[in-house]
Amino acid sequence: MRRPKPIDREKFLKDDEILVSKTDTRGKITYGNERFIDISGYSEEELLGAPHSIIRHPDMPKAVFKILWDGIQAGEEVNAYVKNLAKDGSFYWVLATVTPSFDSVNGKIVGYFSVRRSPDRSKLQKVEPLYRELLEIERRSGMDASKKRIDEMLKSEGTTYDEFIHSI
Ligand SMILES: Cc1cc2nc3c(=O)[nH]c(=O)nc-3n(C[C@H](O)[C@H](O)[C@H](O)COP(=O)(O)O)c2cc1C
Repeated sequence: MRRPKPIDREKFLKDDEILVSKTDTRGKITYGNERFIDISGYSEEELLGAPHSIIRHPDMPKAVFKILWDGIQAGEEVNAYVKNLAKDGSFYWVLATVTPSFDSVNGKIVGYFSVRRSPDRSKLQKVEPLYRELLEIERRSGMDASKKRIDEMLKSEGTTYDEFIHSI
């Protein structure tokens, strides 16, 4: 499927709305709630079985997804501010909480689960310049360099990624 061309139009989630999706262990979408499907602009048929990167926005730094995958594959919950791309090219910001689902018998990860809500606008004002900086580093020097930048920033502030997200 061709990637939509991003346009400068934002869609907003209402405060009481949540977007839910589930994936298999490789990030292929296995479920989306109605609002998740609706805001994406895709049909349920288009979404189910597609990689979750179908709604990836080019403004998102790769390093954020690296942190996400490292965390959930290690069995942890990861929170992240994510700018998503709808089929019509518009974008919508979410605060996502992504968690692994475990097999009840052997405890192995069988898939992942994401619940997203509308982020505070004041917080996005801090996230957006950070993401712009990380993206710039990635364009110039690649993802390892931007991941290093995040690690150095967290170290210099004596905090962890999770604490940082909650403190924004
Ligand atoms: C449960 C779950 C939910 C995800 N939700 C999103 C999402 O809303 N937007 C997004 O761009 N990536 C999301 N991802 C991450 C994608 O799998 C992917 O890593 C990301 O879009 C970057 O694409 P790339 O790995 O092809 O560079 C999610 C992953 C999981 C496991």
